[in-house]
Amino acid sequence: MIVLTGAGGKTGKAVLEAFAAKSFDVRAVIFRQEQSKEILDLGAQETVCGDMRDQQFVHLALEGARAVYHICPNVHPEEFAIGRNVIETAKYHSVELFVYHSVLHPQTEKMVHHWQKLRVEELLFESGLAHIILQPAPYMQNLLPYWEQIIHKGIYSVPYNPAAKISLVDLADVAEAAAILVGSNKYRGGIFEIAGTWALSQRDAAAIISQHLDKDIRVEQISLDTWRQKAQQNGLGNYEIKALLDMFQYYDQYGLAGNNRILSWLLGREPTQLYHFVNQLLGNQP
Ligand SMILES: NC(=O)c1ccc[n+]([C@@H]2O[C@H](COP(=O)([O-])OP(=O)(O)OC[C@H]3O[C@@H](n4cnc5c(N)ncnc54)[C@H](OP(=O)(O)O)[C@@H]3O)[C@@H](O)[C@H]2O)c1
Repeated sequence: MIVLTGAGGKTGKAVLEAFAAKSFDVRAVIFRQEQSKEILDLGAQETVCGDMRDQQFVHLALEGARAVYHICPNVHPEEFAIGRNVIETAKYHSVELFVYHSVLHPQTEKMVHHWQKLRVEELLFESGLAHIILQPAPYMQNLLPYWEQIIHKGIYSVPYNPAAKISLVDLADVAEAAAILVGSNKYRGGIFEIAGTWALSQRDAAAIISQHLDKDIRVEQISLDTWRQKAQQNGLGNYEIKALLDMFQYYDQYGLAGNNRILSWLLGREPTQLYHFVNQLLGNQP
């Protein structure tokens, strides 16, 4: 049985569906009990509900596990402590395989949420556990909160230089790769960069959307202050706001470029490109 943490989030649900498609036995860790039915319907055999910061709960969640697929809550101030706790508990329970859902370029100290992931990766190397690390690029699905504004107003707002080049990946491809990696012993000990596209600027992204929508899309750079005010209104915590502002400044200066050959090799096909993703959103035929 595989314990899947973060199962109620967007990554967790996608990974769960990919695991269910391969008939893996999954115990899904959720944070809100009301999600249980939805998660069981997506293919989990069982759910356990609790707080990943609670050591006793993590013990309960990992009892009897063959493998753990660990997805930390997004931009969480305690990502390192949560990671350490899950790794130590996995060791205690003699788990056969630990898979960590990391991020593209965890080596970037200027982005605290990337840096915390690098430190969790380091703990994993030192744990003696058989492990696999996935380093996914930003998801294409991150466009979704902007989608209504893009298609109705023709404006795509970003809080960093629209010329900054960033690789993207379709979350469905990430989940498919996760199931492939977990499903065979031959990937153990590996670190896998999971990027789907070459580095694209947000202007490139807007041009692709524009072409498929048959409508002009203007990319507008909003100030960090405007973004911060909106984030505060939406109830984002101080840690998340600071981490994401640092991320935008990093993108501004350096972009975040990966390479999609590893994902292509894992999937045995070309990864989903942004135009495929946009076509799917628009309900167009491929
Ligand atoms: N988004 C990207 O482009 C991207 C790219 C690469 C890697 N990643 C990584 O993927 C991971 C997951 O991201 P995501 O966007 O899928 O996250 P998400 O949608 O925010 O999901 C996180 C899940 O964890 C739950 N949760 C929050 N606090 C918890 C706690 N203390 N104990 C137990 N569960 C808790 C959340 O519940 P509530 O909803 O109730 O809060 C939610 O169900 C992150 O580590 C992120 O860095 C993301």
